[in-house]
Amino acid sequence: MRIHLGSDHGAIELRQVLAAALREWSHELASEVGPDDDKESVDYPDIARQLGARVLADPGSLGVLACGTGQGMAMAANKVPGIRAAVVLDAYSARMAREHNDANVLCLGGRVAGVELAKLLLQTFLAGEFAGGRHARRVAKIEGGGG
Ligand code: RB5
Repeated sequence: MRIHLGSDHGAIELRQVLAAALREWSHELASEVGPDDDKESVDYPDIARQLGARVLADPGSLGVLACGTGQGMAMAANKVPGIRAAVVLDAYSARMAREHNDANVLCLGGRVAGVELAKLLLQTFLAGEFAGGRHARRVAKIEGGGG
């Protein structure tokens, strides 16, 4: 799977861990967005918008965004039409975000999730598949279609 990965300064270490994990799991790290170290303070909405555009321009790819909590990234990414970003802290939600909500961006918090949990959440998210059916109707309504 092709993954676009981004973080702000609040989750540099987590981004590095996730990049290494993606390579180890033989996923394609299609692009990375964000500062190289935490000395550079950046605005997470800028990273989220860039990442969202990359995911939309690369059909079939998924995005991963990390900041301190994952919350700001999700709020900003969800303003990009076509992006469905989910903040996740448990494995069940990671799976359901894909299966029921067809989330195309996973948001993680580098200051709230330990690296092993974050890797498990990412692995679970990537393994999930959209179930379609009644969920497709609901997702269409998120996107403003279907009444
Ligand atoms: C940056 O300090 C922090 O506000 C950001 O990483 C994130 O947690 C926002 O939601």
